[in-house]
Order: sequence, then C-alpha cells, then structure tokens
Amino acid sequence: MPDIRNIVILTGAGISAESGLATFRGPDGLWEGHRVEDVCTPQALARDPVTVHRFYDERRATLAAVAPNPAHDALAALDHTWPGDLLIVTQNVDDLHERAGAVRLLHMHGELRSALCAACGAAKPWQDALPPGTHCPYCEAPSLRPDIVFFGEMPYEMERIDAALRTADLFVSIGTSGAVYPAAGFVQTARHAGAQTLELNLDPSAGSIYFHETRIGPASQLVPEWVAEVMGS
Ligand code: APR
Repeated sequence: MPDIRNIVILTGAGISAESGLATFRGPDGLWEGHRVEDVCTPQALARDPVTVHRFYDERRATLAAVAPNPAHDALAALDHTWPGDLLIVTQNVDDLHERAGAVRLLHMHGELRSALCAACGAAKPWQDALPPGTHCPYCEAPSLRPDIVFFGEMPYEMERIDAALRTADLFVSIGTSGAVYPAAGFVQTARHAGAQTLELNLDPSAGSIYFHETRIGPASQLVPEWVAEVMGS
C-alpha cells in the first residue's frame, strides 16, 4: 500500500444501520415514510414547524435506545492511534461516533442533539423535545430550531473539509449512497488531488465508479477489517 499519512473518512447512514438507526433510502428508509419537502427544507420549517420539529424530536428520542457498533468503535480506535492527519466527516446527525470515542470528527449535516438559533446563529446541546418557539438562551429570541442542515442550506465546515480532501493520501467512504452533494463529490476531489480511494458499503453506490476499490458488505465487518489493515500498513 503506498505511503499513507493523511486520511479522510466519510460516513453515511449505513454505518449506523447495524446500530438500529434507519437509513434514508432503501427498504424502510426515512424518505419512504416522509417527504423531504415536508420535513427537511427551510420552506417546510416555515410552513409547518410543528411537523418538522416533531420529526427530529422522534429521531432524537431514538438515540437513547441505540449504541455504537463495531464500525464506530473501529474508527474511534483508529482516530486515537493514527499518527498522521485524520478526519471523520459524517453526514449522520446521530451521536454514535462521539459515543464510540471519535474526536477528530465533524458533522457536515448538523446534529440531532443540538439546537440552533435561527436569529443569532448560536448552537446549544439539546437532549429532549424542542417545541417550536423555544427561546434561545443567548439572544432570547423564540427561534430555536433543529440543528440540522436542510436541503438547500450550506453544509457545515466545507472549507475545512475541502482542505482535508486536497491533502488526503487516502479517502474512505463508508455507508453512503452517494446520492447527495457535496458529499457525493468528495471522492472526486480527493482522487483528483492524488488520494487512494476506497468505498465500504452494503451495496454498490452511485459513486462506486469513482473509487479505486469498492468492498461490499456490512460496515460492522468491513470497517474493523480495514482498520486492522491500515494500522498494519
Ligand atoms: N453497512 C454498510 N453500508 C450499509 C449498511 C450496512 N450495514 N446498511 C446500509 N448501507 C448502505 C446502503 O447500501 C446505502 O448505500 O448505506 C447507504 C445509505 O444510503 P442513504 O440512506 O442514502 O444514506 P446517506 O448516503 O447517508 O444519505 C446522505 O442524504 O437525505 C440526506 O442528509 C441526508 O445525510 C443524508 C444524505
């Protein structure tokens, strides 16, 4: 394996599937039961805040009943031992990477366990239900909303992500369908910058053609195997 120092890892809903959290697309996916236009756009929040807040309240409540799986644990172990640069960029809004111990981590689509003030932009850790009109503890405006990046909004920390992709020696994508940009384009940015690219997924994805290698199987099996391999490299 060529000399690897800097690693960027992208995770999607598939890494949390074996922990019991629904993915978005595919059998029983979240977008099978809800229309994106009704629960994951700024227009939906303005039109029907009760429905939007309830959708995320329900998902936030499920977090108490799930736990990290061996894929989250393996990535956290790699994070703690890898001597080079490492960044886990997750599209997921669950907290399973944190609960597994990951530190070099960022949530590009926000977090269920955070509330965002639509007035002042402050974010606050949030564990319980978040009724529309809840007052911001900082600016006191009645404008706390789920800290989720809706379709049409800018994902978080794109400059930091782009810089990491351009200096990566290895880009690994885990459990994502490659259906949503900008995340779906990360493999091309990394490959263009000279990185090796690896996909670990239960099914081939829309982006499989852009990877040097795709391994098909459950994350709880493929990720620990890959971590052992890269640690031994
Ligand atoms: N192990 C590995 N991969 C899995 C597993 C598993 N056990 N189970 C499912 N997968 C794969 C599926 O094959 C699929 O490719 O995970 C992927 C899940 O795809 P999506 O449901 O589209 O989830 P994701 O790619 O994270 O969606 C991206 O879309 O709706 C938006 O903001 C939302 O962050 C989300 C983004």
